[in-house]
Amino acid sequence: MYKLETKIDTNSEEFKRNKEAFKSILDTYRETLREVKSSGHPSAIKKHKERGKLLARERVDLLIDPNTPFMELSPFAAYGQYDNQFPSAGIVTGIGVIHGKETVIVANDATVKGGTYMKETIKKHVRAQEIAMENNLPCVYMVDSGGVFLHDQANVFPDKYNFGRFFYNQARLSSMGIPQISIVMGSCTAGGAYMPAMSDETIIVKNQGTIFIGGPPLVKAATGEDVTAEELGGADVHTSISGVSDHFAENDHHAIQICRNIFETLRAREKQYIETTPIEEPAYDPEELYGIAPTDLKKPVDSREIIMRIVDGSRFHEFKARYAPTIVTGFANIMGYPVGIIANNGVLFSETALKGAHFIELCDMRKIPILFLQNITGFIVGKEYERGGIARNGAKLVHAVACANVPKFTVVFGGSFGAGNYAMAGRAYDPRLFFMWPNAKISVMGGEQASSVLVQVKQEQLAAKGQTFPKEEEEAMRKGILEKYETEGSAYYSSSRLWDDGIIDPVDTRKVIAMGIAMSLNQKFPEHKFGVVRM
Ligand code: COA
Repeated sequence: MYKLETKIDTNSEEFKRNKEAFKSILDTYRETLREVKSSGHPSAIKKHKERGKLLARERVDLLIDPNTPFMELSPFAAYGQYDNQFPSAGIVTGIGVIHGKETVIVANDATVKGGTYMKETIKKHVRAQEIAMENNLPCVYMVDSGGVFLHDQANVFPDKYNFGRFFYNQARLSSMGIPQISIVMGSCTAGGAYMPAMSDETIIVKNQGTIFIGGPPLVKAATGEDVTAEELGGADVHTSISGVSDHFAENDHHAIQICRNIFETLRAREKQYIETTPIEEPAYDPEELYGIAPTDLKKPVDSREIIMRIVDGSRFHEFKARYAPTIVTGFANIMGYPVGIIANNGVLFSETALKGAHFIELCDMRKIPILFLQNITGFIVGKEYERGGIARNGAKLVHAVACANVPKFTVVFGGSFGAGNYAMAGRAYDPRLFFMWPNAKISVMGGEQASSVLVQVKQEQLAAKGQTFPKEEEEAMRKGILEKYETEGSAYYSSSRLWDDGIIDPVDTRKVIAMGIAMSLNQKFPEHKFGVVRM
């Protein structure tokens, strides 16, 4: 493969300006990340620690192999909503390595509303299990939760992907041979009791863990019986009388050690073979991405400049370099793993879609994971293009993206607008992981376009009645829509609602994608199979 050559002058004013603008985006990102990762209210943290308990992230750190990274997912969940009362939606999820095995870890944060589940908490938990299912990863649930956040019951209880889905998923995962381990480190009430009860193996911590279908107040109300939480469902009861739990732990540290011991008994499963190369840093410093990442989405960025700062040795075997230049396709390696890259370099035309679809077929046939680098305003519009069959050709790309059986990973480094989001493996297309850079924007179209469309619709409505749209009202409408799109299009707005798996520092893109590919190899890639493609 040839090394890509940069056309960017890192001493130029433009580069320095962009870097400066990006630095302020990055400062906000780091500060917000620190904030959402700091758990609940200090008084709740104090109470938690006084009980001899570790915080959720401390528990995760002890569970994973020393000096290995934990890929935390969606730490910004619920951020900017509910008066920020639910940092990280009160749950920590992610992928870590335990005794050499990539594992999905789900840990309740009891310092956030007793670790109870509201809408985004549920979404995070279900998403983590989905990742386990797609990638064949064992699950560890570090349970410390009061169950459903009762004020939000309509959003968490009855629907398909609500609370009940956890236990359904546990049964399905276990039936697929995917280990399900629970460590009960606190409350585990009502429906929550099924978390350990549905696990393959369960550990419970003395004087901390409790499991019951109805807690002491409910028992009192229902039967008049006076009983303490420990008598009703403590560690002693469940390991010596009921048999709901298998292992008795003295404290959090002991419980985590038992869980690690269980992992020693899990057998390795056959992985997808993939040819790797020795890891090599990019020839261009990844920190230069700060000077290149689009801070102004109107400014075009040659996506090769992004690629060369992500891939090993900055080497890229470009496919169809001279054809359909608004999409860049080619092969590279990231931390030794082979990857096919599809990156936007402008609007999607018919030939762009065909080039992308062809390239996806190559990756799928060769069993090479695909990385989508999104910076897309959408498909081209206009009479000439409609007559040229842009809808038919765009469909070929969408079809290829939907049916590709190799793992897909998506990173939005600029804009993600309209059907371009779909054609470039947006959330609905099941990429194994989907990340945004902090400068990224996502919405059905740009704010300016949306306001122009809506103003025009209004003008036509009024014109049909022989009226005109007063200038001030038109301006107010434009302004309102622009503001709405600005807010709703931000990476934080998206991440808060779990439309993605998290916001990442551009410099970490390499690491995150390599970890994603490593994780995906736990599931053998299915054979190449496409449906009917309209020619
Ligand atoms: N729904 C809504 N809010 C809940 C809740 C629930 N199920 N359980 C706890 N909370 C809230 C509390 O109101 C409190 O909110 P605040 O910080 O705004 O005051 C916060 O979570 C912490 O609760 P607290 O009882 O002070 O903490 P704790 O650590 O001593 O106890 C629990 C935590 C979860 C053990 C305890 O609150 C409890 O037993 N809750 C009821 C659990 C239950 O019956 N769930 C059934 C739902 S399926």
